[in-house]
Amino acid sequence: MKKYTLKVQEIRQETADTITLCFKQPGLKKIKYLAGQYLTLSFRINGRRYSRPYSFSSSPTVDSLLETTIKRVPNGIFSNYVNDTIQTGDVVEVLEPMGDFIYTHDEETKVLYLWGVGSGITPLFSILKEVLVVQPLIQVRLVYGNKNVNSTIFQAKLDELLAKYSDRLEVWHFHTQSEASTFNSFVKSGRINAEFIINLLHGEEIAKTKHYICGPIGMKETIKTVLETLQCPEKAIFSEDFELVKNPKDFEQISTQEVTVAFESIATTLTVEKGKSVLEAALDAGLELPYSCQTGSCDTCKATLKTGSMRMIGLTKERHDLESNEFLLCCSHPLTEGVCIEIAH
Ligand SMILES: Cc1cc2nc3c(=O)[nH]c(=O)nc-3n(C[C@H](O)[C@H](O)[C@H](O)COP(=O)(O)OP(=O)(O)OC[C@H]3O[C@@H](n4cnc5c(N)ncnc54)[C@H](O)[C@@H]3O)c2cc1C
Ligand code: FES
Repeated sequence: MKKYTLKVQEIRQETADTITLCFKQPGLKKIKYLAGQYLTLSFRINGRRYSRPYSFSSSPTVDSLLETTIKRVPNGIFSNYVNDTIQTGDVVEVLEPMGDFIYTHDEETKVLYLWGVGSGITPLFSILKEVLVVQPLIQVRLVYGNKNVNSTIFQAKLDELLAKYSDRLEVWHFHTQSEASTFNSFVKSGRINAEFIINLLHGEEIAKTKHYICGPIGMKETIKTVLETLQCPEKAIFSEDFELVKNPKDFEQISTQEVTVAFESIATTLTVEKGKSVLEAALDAGLELPYSCQTGSCDTCKATLKTGSMRMIGLTKERHDLESNEFLLCCSHPLTEGVCIEIAH
């Protein structure tokens, strides 16, 4: 996995709790990425190393800087650290771009639907800018939920794009904390809901649409259910999850166990409490294991199970690419005593 150090060239305050870090491309070898992918940023905070993935909000074709947009999460360690302390000129360690939430064009697709809430706009904004420029025959429709206009990330930029691409771009805003606009039918009150989705897609040739979803699980499920009812093929629906969703029922067979982790030729035995992943327990014990998404969608935390038994819980996507003894530690929980794992990085 390639690592880079990037210099912050500019910081933009997007809303009261969200900034965009704009990084200068490295001088010698430019970082290549696809719209919708993410960068993993790492910082040492109070002596401990933390890594978090942030989707590009820039488009590789349109923007010269590498941009990531970071919204504060209440009590969140990394997002608040970045919003509070990062300055122009700072140097940040990043991993090479990753992620498969990307737009791939095919001749059948005529309309691209982007569904997002809050900071979920970031990869959608990257894809939106890219597609408007690179695919001139595609219509783009964004449905975007926020509390109100002040908390809407990229509101002004979306308005500019609406003016520039008035024949190809439509944007609907949903605001949970303000009334629907009486003079703009594209501004609605409440959450993105099934009735609206059905009405919006009414008369649409569903086989000619593609859907990209980034937001809370409830919204994702609502959209997917409507799309399934309308017989939208699964291969035309893409989603990105910012958080791992754990169902307490899946933990019934899990108990606190001692687990041995072999990393960089050193074996460490640590206690993995019920509910915590092996990765969380190892990081808490001071092991600087590699990781990124923490949602089971990359490979950064992959390890080989040598003895004992583990279960992966909360995976956001099925992972048919893993061998039977390969586990993603961010989702892994010990099922038995005597679990030994090896990390081959
Ligand atoms: C592929 C990917 C792309 C992402 N892209 C972006 C992006 O472009 N912009 C962005 O702002 N964030 C993005 N995130 C989320 C980001 O990586 C961090 O998870 C987020 O900033 C919180 O980190 P933290 O250290 O501040 O919070 P933590 O200290 O890790 O968590 C604190 C608490 O907040 C909860 N929490 C964690 N993440 C979220 C969340 N996203 N929303 C609500 N509650 C949460 C946790 O369950 C925990 O209880 C992305 C995540 C993934 C997996
Ligand atoms: S950190 Fe990405 S799969 Fe575990």
